[in-house]
Amino acid sequence: MSGEKGSNLIFKVYSQNKLKLNKDILTDIANLKLQWWGRTVNKQIRYINSLGNTSSHIVGFLDKKIIAYVRLIKREIKGEQSCYKVIGVSTVCVNKSYRHYGYGVSIMKQVNTIIDEEEYDFGLLQCNESLKKFYEKCGWHKTTQEFIRVDKFWKKVNAFKENNVMIYPRRDFLEKVVDICGNSF
Ligand SMILES: CC(C)(COP(=O)(O)OP(=O)(O)OC[C@H]1O[C@@H](n2cnc3c(N)ncnc32)[C@H](O)[C@@H]1OP(=O)(O)O)[C@@H](O)C(=O)NCCC(=O)NCCS
Repeated sequence: MSGEKGSNLIFKVYSQNKLKLNKDILTDIANLKLQWWGRTVNKQIRYINSLGNTSSHIVGFLDKKIIAYVRLIKREIKGEQSCYKVIGVSTVCVNKSYRHYGYGVSIMKQVNTIIDEEEYDFGLLQCNESLKKFYEKCGWHKTTQEFIRVDKFWKKVNAFKENNVMIYPRRDFLEKVVDICGNSF
């Protein structure tokens, strides 16, 4: 591998109104997700299809093989005083045989570029303690901002289950609580 660690991946961004996911790519993404999360390939495919235009998908290819995947949820969220255009990051994963080559950081840098270039206010994700260091290497920071969502009983609940809510880029908020206006990422 030459150049910066992980720099030899080619990235493509799939979404309903741009480059569409075809059955082969969907199957390869489903197989990659299957390495980490226990759903069948068909269930994964049905799930990804059901997301429609709420999500876009960054796929990292090494030659023609899918090595890395991230799902992005683009949304407006709001506090009492401000609205924010954000990207929620979900399902970050790298093929198990290609871990520790820098591909995880590399695909997250693509996310950062989209946030910067498409003028999002910030990105948000949640992770457990063991992955905090990984996301810090990707330029993300833990935020102590309180985020809520409204559950199916119209009750305001904590938006995220994990201890660490990570944000990119670092920022301060005008309000105590921000509603993520939908399901958690
Ligand atoms: C997390 C994940 C995406 C990292 O991918 P990767 O390509 O191996 O990561 P990188 O090679 O870019 O890692 C860079 C650094 O981040 C840290 N890091 C990477 N994976 C880590 C992990 N699982 N735990 C703790 N630190 C980790 C290490 O410091 C690593 O440097 P090193 O390889 O020199 O030790 C990958 O392990 C994965 O797919 N995990 C399973 C799915 C998952 O849990 N996703 C996160 C959902 S929040």
